[in-house]
Amino acid sequence: MLLALLLAALHGCQLDTSRGPADSAFLEAGGAFPAEWPFGADAAPVTATEGLVATTDEYASQVGLDILAAGGNAVDAAVATGLALAVVNPEAGNLGGGGFMMIRLADGTVHAQDHREKAPLAATRDMYLDADGNVTDRSVLGHLAAGVPGTVQGLWDAHERFGSLPWASVVQPAIDLAGGFTVTMRLVSTLDAAQNGIRAFEAGARIFLPGDSVPAIGDSFSQPDLAAVLTRLRDRGPDDFYRGETAALIAAEMQRGGGIMTLEDLDRYTAVWREPAAFDYRGHTVHSMPPPSSGGVTMAAIANIVERWDLGAMGWNTPETIHVMAESFRRAYADRNEYLADPDFVELPVDQFLSDDYADRRAATISLERATPSSEVAPGIDAFLDETHTTHYSVVDGDGNAVAVTTSVNSWYGSKVVVEGAGFYLNNTMDDFAAKPGTPNQFGLVQGERNAVGPEKRMLSAMSPTIVEDPDGNLFLITGTPGGATIITTVLQTIFNVVDHGMSVVQAVHAPRVHHQHLPDMVFHEYGGLPEATVRALEALGHTVRERDPGPPDAYFTGGMSGDVQLIMAMPDGSFAGWSDPRRGGLTLGR
Ligand code: DON
Repeated sequence: MLLALLLAALHGCQLDTSRGPADSAFLEAGGAFPAEWPFGADAAPVTATEGLVATTDEYASQVGLDILAAGGNAVDAAVATGLALAVVNPEAGNLGGGGFMMIRLADGTVHAQDHREKAPLAATRDMYLDADGNVTDRSVLGHLAAGVPGTVQGLWDAHERFGSLPWASVVQPAIDLAGGFTVTMRLVSTLDAAQNGIRAFEAGARIFLPGDSVPAIGDSFSQPDLAAVLTRLRDRGPDDFYRGETAALIAAEMQRGGGIMTLEDLDRYTAVWREPAAFDYRGHTVHSMPPPSSGGVTMAAIANIVERWDLGAMGWNTPETIHVMAESFRRAYADRNEYLADPDFVELPVDQFLSDDYADRRAATISLERATPSSEVAPGIDAFLDETHTTHYSVVDGDGNAVAVTTSVNSWYGSKVVVEGAGFYLNNTMDDFAAKPGTPNQFGLVQGERNAVGPEKRMLSAMSPTIVEDPDGNLFLITGTPGGATIITTVLQTIFNVVDHGMSVVQAVHAPRVHHQHLPDMVFHEYGGLPEATVRALEALGHTVRERDPGPPDAYFTGGMSGDVQLIMAMPDGSFAGWSDPRRGGLTLGR
């Protein structure tokens, strides 16, 4: 109850139920969330006709909304929002990281942009192993952990191709925020959690722990070095970041800290437009990221298997439905972990992931009577760490142009290395490679040889910005989330919640989630998300069920939860409904 009150206070702007309970088939059919679950099934969403911006941060959502109000389209708003997140949400928003962007224009064309980091030219397969062949922490912490950042190029390219406002006007709001904004609980919470790592690197500690302590809520927080970088970005475009003054600062930081990224790496970086991964789910067309994100094709594999059962009839959160999902997750992740990697370096069986034949074969091995141990699909290990350090934002404009972006520095505050003189964190996304194929990374993912480190290679991702069309081919859902390995299952569950279980946009976000990633061989569920009887029923089928640890009380992040979904739904009357996940307290704003 206390948790519910705290969340209601934090998300007061959103949890306004004054418009009455949401109208949904889920409720009409007698659906309900578990009694102790903190998020209600009856809140009304944020609605709008001229556009919505759903992000994890109120400043960033406001920036996006202002750009829409100034006549910008959804791509303008998304680019401005992404740059704002780099300022106000430095634990995940970034200039020093990378991500993926899905765009569906009002004319129905769909575009997938990969601005994932790349390994530096000097990267080698075993660079993270010690003399005994054991994995060190260098893929996670410090200068060697950073891949060549892609965000700046990606946002620039997207704006060049689809933006309508001048570049300077989409960069300016971030410059203003870097000049000073009022510290939020979010910033305090993430700095608090990451402060030990941050303290290890002086350039970052000086900025983010002024006077060696976490700034207080309500303080004004300014980032002059970052403001200067953004000003150069406004005036000179990405050339400054990849070839100019900022590039020189990055290269100097690398030399100082024993990193390997060079001016040549920065100069050679390109973002890539790729063919979206598209698949059908019960008449809906789902568009998501193709490799080097594993998201789109893994979701396709799971959805094609799951489709063989009627989840709606089996019921939401029942042992039967969770069993079918978990068995499908298990099988698709086994293949994801083994086969997927950077398509520019490795031949990938993408067609198989998307094929009915694959789904038939995989579905045929699922028994409704018994869980298949993962050891019968592949060898087993037992390690899992779920954290939500990435961030996602969803935007739609009044014309129906839709953008979904998931962006990351990987861990909170990435490698913990700030570029001296530039004021931004560099990612630690090199850890998304298999530092040692067959051993788990920080998300417990056991990945194969194909995803080994290699020069100029992109590391496999789970980030899955996703846009769904309804059976008539119209824009329907814009969705995505952080959550490392859980991203894929979380995004899919928001889709299942709507398509199979008739949930409203709010319910689809609020509903508790489950996860299975093949190894470790466990069904994970959110704290308080499964009734005891359901857990027992799953155990009787042979599943090991693990409830997420709520952890120590935290002022902001909801312990024991997974994901931070930003969901927008196009409504039949032409309006939009949106909702930001209360698990991390974002805010959807509309006009
Ligand atoms: O690309 C990926 O899959 C990861 N770097 C995403 C990291 C993430 O979501 C952080 N939080 N768990």
